Amino acid sequence: MSFQIKSFQEYKDNYKKSIENPESFWEEIANNFVWKKKWNNVLSWDFSKPEIKWFEGATLNITENCLDRHLETRGDKTAILWEPNDPKEGVIKLTYKELHSKVCAFANVLKNNGVKKGDRVCIYLPMIPELAIATLACARIGAIHSIVFAGFSATALASRINDAQCNVVITSDGSYRGNKTIDLKGIVDDALESTPSIQTSIVYKRTGAAIEMKANRDVWWHEELEKVNDQCEAEEMNAEDMLFILYTSGSTGKPKGMVHTCGGYMVYTAYSFKNVFQYEENDVYWCTADIGWITGHSYILYGPLANGATTIMFEGVPTYPDGGRFWEVVEKHKVNQFYTAPTAIRALEKQPIELVNKYNLSSLKVLGSVGEPINAEAWHWYDDNIGKNNAPIADTWWQTETGGIMISSLAGVTPQKPTFATLPLPGIQPVLMDAEGKEIETTEAEGRLAIKFPWPSIARSVYGDHQRYKDTYFSAYENKYFTGDGALRNKEGQYRITGRVDDVIIVSGHNLGTAPIEDVINEHDKVVESAIVGFPHDIKGNALYAYVILHDGVEGNDTLRLEINSQIADSIGPIAKLDKIQFVSGLPKTRSGKIMRRILRKVAAGEHKSLGDISTLLNPEVVDEIINGVLV
Ligand code: WTA
Repeated sequence: MSFQIKSFQEYKDNYKKSIENPESFWEEIANNFVWKKKWNNVLSWDFSKPEIKWFEGATLNITENCLDRHLETRGDKTAILWEPNDPKEGVIKLTYKELHSKVCAFANVLKNNGVKKGDRVCIYLPMIPELAIATLACARIGAIHSIVFAGFSATALASRINDAQCNVVITSDGSYRGNKTIDLKGIVDDALESTPSIQTSIVYKRTGAAIEMKANRDVWWHEELEKVNDQCEAEEMNAEDMLFILYTSGSTGKPKGMVHTCGGYMVYTAYSFKNVFQYEENDVYWCTADIGWITGHSYILYGPLANGATTIMFEGVPTYPDGGRFWEVVEKHKVNQFYTAPTAIRALEKQPIELVNKYNLSSLKVLGSVGEPINAEAWHWYDDNIGKNNAPIADTWWQTETGGIMISSLAGVTPQKPTFATLPLPGIQPVLMDAEGKEIETTEAEGRLAIKFPWPSIARSVYGDHQRYKDTYFSAYENKYFTGDGALRNKEGQYRITGRVDDVIIVSGHNLGTAPIEDVINEHDKVVESAIVGFPHDIKGNALYAYVILHDGVEGNDTLRLEINSQIADSIGPIAKLDKIQFVSGLPKTRSGKIMRRILRKVAAGEHKSLGDISTLLNPEVVDEIINGVLV
């Protein structure tokens, strides 16, 4: 595709053009794709409604761009290179031809099972090729996929299925994760007790575990495949038709189903993939994320495949069989671009350095980071030991809601700076907002990060709740998308993301809303009320600290702590478990009854000497009690 930016000057020219004339800028880029029909209008938008439409009137199918159009020129090139959890099990290489055939065949399986255009299909699978195949098969027939990360609990899965009213769920008998085997089907069975919309579950055999197949509901993937051929015409989709729903945490109990649409999402993920990672035709690219998160959607599947790339899917974990696993895979497949999260980098930094040095990492040309701010120490360790100071690092800031990378260096093309995501991609217009809600005009500044102009892959809504979309993202500042992050900008105009400014805490790169976790704690019959804050953690970036008020006469002890954590694991998933639980008699509240999380955060971080003025609290006396009982 002819939109690769190759020099800093070219970036500047492109950026300028994208701001001065966004429509012609994006139109030129969009012309690189296969459309069934071109657009009548490049962009219409109104952030006050909010309503955003890109490439209106155009029709396409994203799978024709990710698969069919490569068949002639790259049919025998590896599209997906699958690396199993256990290195002793062989790798699987699917060429573009093979992937195309498997996607079409499974699309026919979906059709045979009653799935129609516009239906929602829930995918709850481990990182096996079938996850990619099922996802693309949905897109092939215009069904809307809703992928749920296969580490979520039955309750979390059920609430997502119910919110989107999915009629089919796709899963596997079990999954492998390091030295553990997980009973995925059992989790799905539990979830399906309370999901009336599900008619069918399609089960892929991965582990061979003994599972129960429920009559008239559960069917085997391999048996269904026997009934179909591999010819499946791609459904003609409007550019603004829904491609998928992906849930992300919010500051209230219910997760938000972010809605992404076909045309703009395709254009932006492909464009940003090519430019940020500077992918060249025969490179091998590896993003270690799970496809259950947005990073996997955009930068394992759609962005790379739209560019005809070879993209690695990794089933395992960074520390199995040992802490050298990532580097072994890099050497084995001669990985050129490697994209991971700061939490993984920090964990691997703690492993013996021989586990890095015994592998040949000289294939690496580009390193990427995503999910949370990367601290200076991790940045330098990554640069020195993995990139050998010879592979530029793209620190990519973006969100589930933004669909694609927003602020990042273009590796080796625009300047990098440790701990800075640096400059916005072409088309992205970030602004910093001050405490009064005004845009800060000076270049050097610190404030809340907002975006003042739409880009093609911005989420269009919250599924089933457009008002919530408006309230969450477009109400803080008039005519601007609010990110929920704070940032500072240096005199070169480069951005450094300082972290969330709302009630979302990023733990090991996963977004966790405090309210949904507090709701679960409060459901325990011994608990009156609770508040969660994040505190700095060596590896996870942040970990969770809970302050919990118990009913009179109840003793707070470790048994209760275990009970609370197991309740959280059951309702949300193990990723939301609390590191520390302090039992308290009260929580610091303002006179209007709002919990002062700022104080709780400082105490948990050991900074109780700088609490500031607490005299305006309703109950200042609890602060001393909390400080005295703090868990270190
Ligand atoms: C944080 C992940 C600093 C940020 C793609 C954002 C980052 C949230 C970075 C979105 C980064 C992501 N530097 N912070 N490079 N990347 N974040 O929706 O707080 O899982 O708002 O999307 O992660 O997380 P999400």
